[in-house]
Amino acid sequence: MADEVGLVNDEAVVPIRSDGDIVTARQEGRALASLLGFSSTEATLIATAISELARNIVLYAKRGEIVLALVEDHGRRGIVVTARDEGPGIVDVRKALMDGHSTSGGLGLGLPGVRRLMDDFEIVSQIGKGTTVTVKRWKQGAGPV
Ligand SMILES: Nc1ncnc2c1ncn2[C@@H]1O[C@H](COP(=O)(O)OP(=O)(O)OP(=O)(O)O)[C@@H](O)[C@H]1O
Ligand SMILES: [Mg+2]
Repeated sequence: MADEVGLVNDEAVVPIRSDGDIVTARQEGRALASLLGFSSTEATLIATAISELARNIVLYAKRGEIVLALVEDHGRRGIVVTARDEGPGIVDVRKALMDGHSTSGGLGLGLPGVRRLMDDFEIVSQIGKGTTVTVKRWKQGAGPV
């Protein structure tokens, strides 16, 4: 299982610098979600969230990374996606999470969309230091751990 998605120490790190890297992160996320037993539909939703986060890295920070990992909590299993960069940071995080807010003439639906697609959503951003978005999606049902 670990080999198929290139997990090292239980995580896969995908450097993000270009549109091609966005595709790679999306594919790796989809593969890991499928291996974890997420349905094809759920895996697609997770992959979509990953591409939105990766797209923001390329657009606003130029470079960064997406880290994919398994997560377990009280018998629940899921996938955790961490998108981090050392870019300019977000001036107003509250606004950035609102539908339609964009500083680049975009639709401003990326971050709010990611928040809706995933179960847990955390964002830490510091001006001049960078941004880290951590999102999780849990598998439904107890299942073996
Ligand atoms: N990694 C990041 N670094 C710096 N700023 C960011 C980052 N990600 C998002 N932002 C800021 O948050 C705003 C909202 O992001 P969001 O992804 O929701 O919308 P968008 O990228 O502008 O448009 P869309 O994703 O719909 O094409 C962005 O316009 C940008 O100002
Ligand atoms: Mg975006």
